Amino acid sequence: MKIVIPGGTGQVGTVLNRALTAAGHEVVVLTRRPSRDREIRWDGETLGRWAQVIDGSDIVINLAGRSVSCRYTATNLQAMMDSRVHSTQVVGEAIARAARPPRVWLQMSTATVYAHRFDAPNDEATGVIGGSEPGVPDYWAYSVEIAKAWERAQEEADTPHTRKVALRSAMVMSPDRGGVFDILLRLARLGLGGPVAGGAQYVSWIHDRDFVRAVDFLVDRDDLTGPVNLAAPEPLPQRAFMRALRSAWGVPVGLPATKRMAELGAFALRSDTELLLKSRRVVPGRLLDEGFTFEYGRWPQAADDLVQRVRLRRVDRRRSGAGAPALSRLS
Ligand SMILES: NC(=O)c1ccc[n+]([C@@H]2O[C@H](COP(=O)([O-])OP(=O)(O)OC[C@H]3O[C@@H](n4cnc5c(N)ncnc54)[C@H](OP(=O)(O)O)[C@@H]3O)[C@@H](O)[C@H]2O)c1
Repeated sequence: MKIVIPGGTGQVGTVLNRALTAAGHEVVVLTRRPSRDREIRWDGETLGRWAQVIDGSDIVINLAGRSVSCRYTATNLQAMMDSRVHSTQVVGEAIARAARPPRVWLQMSTATVYAHRFDAPNDEATGVIGGSEPGVPDYWAYSVEIAKAWERAQEEADTPHTRKVALRSAMVMSPDRGGVFDILLRLARLGLGGPVAGGAQYVSWIHDRDFVRAVDFLVDRDDLTGPVNLAAPEPLPQRAFMRALRSAWGVPVGLPATKRMAELGAFALRSDTELLLKSRRVVPGRLLDEGFTFEYGRWPQAADDLVQRVRLRRVDRRRSGAGAPALSRLS
């Protein structure tokens, strides 16, 4: 199949591109700064010649959006909103104008759309959409607004011949450098992988292989449309999540951090504490109902696999003597 991935140069795009290319598909990435084969320039805002690549494609998977790992200043929040909404709108326009539109458009969304809660998990049918939770910073509601506007941009696109699915994804855990797992593992290895602000907040996650398998599943299932949660079935409190990660690498201790320390750390890392403190208790209701099975349903087993792959990559890199990672045997 011919698969177009707008915004496919980042962490999730790398995971998908690697797997889909290895499966024999033709993958084309839309990026603002093309530097490799099979990358095409777009600006994420306006129709251009890039739209030709969508015409005649089989699948579009739009991942574009300003990274959320930044200080949540007014300017950055606006950029997070605009980059998601505008890129989704323009992808919709390109599909609408295509003489041979793709049969399916998977649009990235986020598990952050759900409320900060501890009491029960959020699935698509009974989950609580966030934005009005008591006792959380006001600006957290804006992340939910971004997620809602992002999904709305896809819903409103007039693409009658293309099935639309919104991927409400939890954190995608892959061994790649710079990804979320890499960052958490570095913290754990530095002895900083303890509970944050008590560590009762839930962490939702999905192993990269299950993410790719879920994408495959959603491509194949012509009857599925609308929002789908991509998250492993067992989210767990942050303190247990980090404990399992420490144990996978063999780090004996993880210093606990107060909320204030987390704020200082987030400031130093030019990031925001919402990413650490919001309780994301999200489960894959629709995927499970439709018969999808997870290879990595439990975090300790997923963490072990990811750690093993990180270690293999380090060995590969050392052996190849190059800066760039050689392909690991387990990729
Ligand atoms: N990583 C996760 O665990 C996770 C979980 C849930 C949801 N998501 C969402 O999934 C998407 C992909 O995640 P990721 O981790 O791969 O993100 P990422 O590494 O930050 O990559 C996002 C891509 O979006 C493009 N982009 C950034 N700003 C843009 C703008 N202003 N206009 C158009 N394109 C822009 C970039 O491509 P170029 O610079 O090459 O143009 C970049 O490669 C993001 O929208 C993210 O919010 C990620």
